[in-house]
Amino acid sequence: MQPTRRKFLQNVTAASALLATESIAKPFNIIRDLKKISPNDKIRFATIGMGIQGHSDTRAAIRSTPEAEFVAAADLYDGRLTRVKEQYGKDIFTTRDFRQILERKDIDVVLIVTPDHWHDHITKAALKAGKNVYCEKPMVHHIDEGLSVIDAWKKSGKTMQVGSQSISSAPYREAKKMMQAGDIGEINFVESSYDRFDSIGAWNYSIPTDASPQTLDWDTFLGDAPKVPFDAKRFFRWRNYRDYGTGVAGDLFVHLITGVHFVTSSLGPERIMSSGELSYWKDGRDVPDVLVSILDYPKTDIHTNFQMVLRVNFANAGAISNTTRIVGTEGQIQFTANSLVLNKKKLPKAPGMGGYDSFNTFSEAQQKEFKTQYDAQYPEDTRKAEPIKEVKFEAPKGDDAHANHFADFFENVKKGSLGNVEDPVFGFRAAAPVLACNESYFGKKIVNWDPVNMKKKK
Ligand SMILES: NC(=O)c1ccc[n+]([C@@H]2O[C@H](COP(=O)([O-])OP(=O)(O)OC[C@H]3O[C@@H](n4cnc5c(N)ncnc54)[C@H](O)[C@@H]3O)[C@@H](O)[C@H]2O)c1
Repeated sequence: MQPTRRKFLQNVTAASALLATESIAKPFNIIRDLKKISPNDKIRFATIGMGIQGHSDTRAAIRSTPEAEFVAAADLYDGRLTRVKEQYGKDIFTTRDFRQILERKDIDVVLIVTPDHWHDHITKAALKAGKNVYCEKPMVHHIDEGLSVIDAWKKSGKTMQVGSQSISSAPYREAKKMMQAGDIGEINFVESSYDRFDSIGAWNYSIPTDASPQTLDWDTFLGDAPKVPFDAKRFFRWRNYRDYGTGVAGDLFVHLITGVHFVTSSLGPERIMSSGELSYWKDGRDVPDVLVSILDYPKTDIHTNFQMVLRVNFANAGAISNTTRIVGTEGQIQFTANSLVLNKKKLPKAPGMGGYDSFNTFSEAQQKEFKTQYDAQYPEDTRKAEPIKEVKFEAPKGDDAHANHFADFFENVKKGSLGNVEDPVFGFRAAAPVLACNESYFGKKIVNWDPVNMKKKK
């Protein structure tokens, strides 16, 4: 490490530690403007878990800022470590053992991109080792792991960000502005779906022909999960098993909830219920492929109470038209791939009369009398609905949510700031409700959640 760089990191660590103590007293404060990293310094990062998303995150981190330098990778399958060297050069340090990465003093940042059941363990170890952490969604595997991760983060004084990158897209930022401007009136309903109908989409990823207990570290993969004999399907298609993954809720609902929390500034729901089934992919998996969840959001100082309905159907052989809509009393925001459409409309003051209405069943005399009163009460100008206004917002060309998300993270690492667009408090407030969706489905019960204190309620 260069002397300036070492000094910078020492300063940041000391200042962060001090401010972290403050942040325990004032838990959700954003800490800014600590010593800045010298412009010539690199932020050296390592990726732990070099599977599909590990590669994608690594690429996004590299393109997010020229200051980010990829130096090391850990993975349990040798083929993926070979692939790292093929793609990034033979000088990248690779290991099966992530602890070797945490021991290295020249690494500032780790990206944790393992299956969900390893997130909390590696996050806590990394923060303890003084690393800044970018952890993939969902932040934790089980609800009861969340607060201890938050605690470890606060104690560490390090930057930690969770990886639901869509919220760093231009449409999500625009939607947040629209909500704040009151463009859709009072929010009352959110609907989102994420259907698929293909084998890879249903998580049946390719399994390499050389997969064996020799080419990968099966015991470490299992981690805190029950010990079972080697099974390549479990290793490469871990999402299909509750022991390692979090089902469709943890994989997909979490993006939808994160987006809605970002746009509405909501802290989360208070009642969560799910219904679903394993309908089509009966390939040994123990998670549903059809799931509908209903989440009740309570009224807060920031928003009215509203209901959220989330759906995934991995067996949708019908027309798939996935959508996310935030609906209010004066309009809706609807997201599509790289854009959003805001539709605004307002009901007229006058309720209307005639047509499919009881008016026509009144006696002639009563109709006359009713009309006289109606005309007096509702003059012409109260009878027209405000015309529907449609505002389309297209993301600027080249808008790169994934790189933006990393850019925000690295900015805060440089500043030594605990605050960022998806810190662990935000991350857990999105993760816990989706994990509750699973608890509701498997336990056939309603889960009550306290979104302020982030605890389950009786
Ligand atoms: N943000 C997103 O849009 C997004 C998209 C896909 C996946 N993800 C998340 O990324 C994570 C990884 O998903 P994936 O699809 O890349 O899975 P994957 O199976 O393709 O890769 C996971 C890798 O982690 C490695 N691994 C497992 N335990 C490890 C350990 N203890 N130490 C080091 N390496 C270990 C495995 O060897 C494997 O190569 C998941 O948490 C998932 O939810 C996020």
